[in-house]
Parts: sequence; structure tokens; C-alpha cells
Amino acid sequence: MTRVVAVANQKGGVAKTTTVHSLGVALAQGGQKVLLVDLDPQASLTWACGVDPDDLERSMHEVLLRRCKAADAVLPTDVDDLRLLPSTIDLAGAEMHLLTKTGREYVLRKALDRVVDDYDVVLIDCPPSLGILTINGLTAAGEVLIPLQCEALGQRGVSQLMETIDDVRSYTNRDLVVRGVIATMFDRRTNLANQVVAEVQETHGLEVFDPPVPKSVKVAEAPGRGRSVLEHASSSRGAVAYRELAEAIFGVAAPAPEKKAKKKSKKKGEG
Ligand SMILES: Nc1ncnc2c1ncn2[C@@H]1O[C@H](COP(=O)(O)OP(=O)(O)OP(=O)(O)O)[C@@H](O)[C@H]1O
Ligand SMILES: [Mg+2]
Repeated sequence: MTRVVAVANQKGGVAKTTTVHSLGVALAQGGQKVLLVDLDPQASLTWACGVDPDDLERSMHEVLLRRCKAADAVLPTDVDDLRLLPSTIDLAGAEMHLLTKTGREYVLRKALDRVVDDYDVVLIDCPPSLGILTINGLTAAGEVLIPLQCEALGQRGVSQLMETIDDVRSYTNRDLVVRGVIATMFDRRTNLANQVVAEVQETHGLEVFDPPVPKSVKVAEAPGRGRSVLEHASSSRGAVAYRELAEAIFGVAAPAPEKKAKKKSKKKGEG
């Protein structure tokens, strides 16, 4: 059975896109067939995969307007077994169009229906809002992961997100499961980060996965190079955290990179 997982939080900049990309790469490196779905008109995930949205003829916009099949918009990426359903800014227009349609909450679900079976895992990167695109993401998914930035006020808005998820369960997707929270941009040195985690555990009874993803320059640099932190700096703390999360959440172990010392000795041998 394919696991379809929406990554959602209406708060902006909490590492939704980074989490989708990094988990996707970890899962693909662990031998899974993975589809990343960019459901955000900002197209950050598309950029982060090294694809220029301006060069695209087919994208999520055309798919949601039923001008093309999802399978025909899917692109390969630099990572084996990792594919991307890309977005463009046009998706903002599709959002307006959807609002006038009957069954508007189900458009993504229907569009993905025919492709999900080709994958082990489908990860949906939701935009920072609780609008119709996010509702489409939550309606198409079986599970939802909530990235939470562990800074002051980071947990604000979780109640609102949980209300939206409850609405989705009531109206469009009864079986949606909240898998848990991924603590992002985590700074262990501050009590604040730990307080934020404790508060969402207590208030909402949500599981917060271990490990948290540390705040790291390597993670921040990666998207500008059109790759995830697992490719950009595979031994960095951020990459290690995302590999461990892939194992904790999906039970998929991605191979750790070879140690540098090993490489050196190999080179010596060759020379
Ligand atoms: N662990 C981390 N350490 C440092 N920087 C990070 C980390 N995770 C994400 N970032 C950076 O924080 C910024 C926001 O991350 P990202 O785009 O993944 O968030 P988002 O929730 O998808 O944002 P939006 O709501 O705009 O879609 C990006 O510049 C990203 O590179
Ligand atoms: Mg994003």
C-alpha cells in the first residue's frame, strides 16, 4: 500500500518544503519509489529539486485544471527513484479556479488516484495557508506530518491546523491520521525549544518524533544549490536527522554516507 503523506502547517517558513525534500531523498536512497508533490504556488520544492518552474509546460496547475494527467507532468530528479510533480506560480490561479468548482476538495485526490500505485511513498508539500490547496492536500493524504519551528510562538496556530484537520476528517477524508510533529530548526541549547515541544505534546497529545532537526547552515544552503541537504552535505547533522526521521516514521533505513577517512585510504591505495 502506498503511503500518501501531506506535510502541512499554515505558518510560513517552518521547513515544510525542506522536510518533504529531505525525507523524500532519504526514502529514495533507502530503496523506496517516491513521488514529491509541490502544492505551493511559490514552487520552492520545484526549485529545490533543481527545476526552473519557468521552463515547464506541464505542472500542478494544468493537472488541477484537468488539462493534463498527473503522470504526464511528473519529472525525474537527480536522485534515483525520486520523482517530482512540479509547481509554478500559475497554481495561484488554479486556486481561484477551484473555488468555483463542485467537488473542489477532491481534485488532487482524483488526479493522484491513477499514479499513487506507481510509488511506495507520496509526499505532498502544502502551501503556508489553510486554503483550498492545503485542503486538497489533506483530502488526498492518508497521513499528515506537522513540521514545527521550535522558536517563540512556534506552536501558535497548531490549534487552528488541528481544527482544519478535524473538518477534513468530518467532511472529506474520514481516515486521515495525524502521524505527528517534526521539530525543526531546533536549538538544543535553548529551554524555549524544549518548552515548545512539551507544550504541543501536552496540549494536543501529538507525538513529536525523535530526533529534532537541528538548525544548520548546511540545511539552509542546500535548496539554493538545487538539492537536498542529504546530497549537499550527507554527513551533516541535518542530513543525519532526516535519515533518522525517515527510519522512525517510515521504517526505511537510508544508507549512511561513507566515512571520509575511508575514501582517503582508498585514494592512497589507488595512487
Ligand atoms: N534545519 C534548518 N536549519 C537552518 N535552516 C533551515 C532548516 N530547515 C529549513 N531551513 C531554511 O528555512 C527556510 C524555510 O524553510 P522551508 O522553505 O522548508 O519552509 P516552508 O515551511 O516550506 O516555508 P513556506 O511556508 O514559505 O512554504 C528556508 O530558507 C530553509 O532553507
Ligand atoms: Mg514551503
